[in-house]
Amino acid sequence: MATIAKTIVATGATSGLGFELVKQLLAQTQPYKFILGARDTKTAQAAFDKLNYDSSKHSLTLFPLELSNLKTVKAFSQQVLDKLGQDKIDYLLLNAAIGKNAEQPGPFGSKWSEPYIVNHLSQHYLVHLLREKLEASQSRIVVVSSGAVRLVDDPKYLEDDLKGGSKTERSVYPATKFVQLLGAHWWRRQLKGKCTVVAVSPGLIPHTNLSRNSDQFQLHANHPDAKTVPEGAQSIYRAFVRDDLPEDPDQIFLTSWGEWWPKDVYGLSLDKTLQDKWSPSKDEIEREEGLTA
Ligand SMILES: NC(=O)c1ccc[n+]([C@@H]2O[C@H](COP(=O)([O-])OP(=O)(O)OC[C@H]3O[C@@H](n4cnc5c(N)ncnc54)[C@H](OP(=O)(O)O)[C@@H]3O)[C@@H](O)[C@H]2O)c1
Repeated sequence: MATIAKTIVATGATSGLGFELVKQLLAQTQPYKFILGARDTKTAQAAFDKLNYDSSKHSLTLFPLELSNLKTVKAFSQQVLDKLGQDKIDYLLLNAAIGKNAEQPGPFGSKWSEPYIVNHLSQHYLVHLLREKLEASQSRIVVVSSGAVRLVDDPKYLEDDLKGGSKTERSVYPATKFVQLLGAHWWRRQLKGKCTVVAVSPGLIPHTNLSRNSDQFQLHANHPDAKTVPEGAQSIYRAFVRDDLPEDPDQIFLTSWGEWWPKDVYGLSLDKTLQDKWSPSKDEIEREEGLTA
């Protein structure tokens, strides 16, 4: 009997760890239907075509997605829903990120910086836009997080540090990943009993493009904990398949070595008031970012 294809909707699968993960999945006997957001669909299509995967088994669709522009997030979500029709989403992978400081003014007139919008706000907005389908599908939402969340030791600086034009000397990337984790906890609470939300760290993987735009943080290839891109992709994949989710609902973080992190490691992100603050509603986002007619 033919195995039913699993549908994966993903951000950030056009290079680095996300691309490698899709590549690994395309080599499985399990069939997949991928619907992927890409800044440059042509280049991404050429890269996937080069993999020579079995297109009678897997399907792969690319739609434009520029996460610094929330309008494209809205258009992407509609294209995803149109493409899906009655089909469900088995997995939503939120993997896209940039490592960049917040010195530039916010894109498209936003008060927020590009790294905040790309790494958190726009992907949080995407979950709002897909919410009904995710709930109906009982999807698993995999949020690619980072051990860097531990570098945030006082959330009171987040608001200033993440604004466009911020001159902060603190590193902005960990702050974006921290608010992203707040959002993962928030969605886990909102979607309780309907979807599964898992945050996962791929580990320290120097050979990706993550730090290409940043002089604030660099990933050193000779770091003793450094892992390869295929190893990093495998860590993310574990978040798709692990079914031993801890009983404590706050314990959502899977490490790159396969341990469910004790929640005191990311204790600051368990503050529900903070989770609420950094998880704006769909209407608030559309109003603040000028998306309403
Ligand atoms: N590398 C590490 O050591 C490490 C450690 C901990 C966590 N992580 C996390 O792992 C995830 C993947 O990172 P990576 O290391 O593989 O980085 P990467 O090679 O830079 O890949 C990032 C992905 O995000 C996409 N992206 C970036 N900005 C975007 C935008 N404005 N609109 C749409 N897509 C955008 C990129 O698209 P393009 O192909 O167009 O560039 C690419 O597909 C991130 O969430 C990162 O925070 C990485």
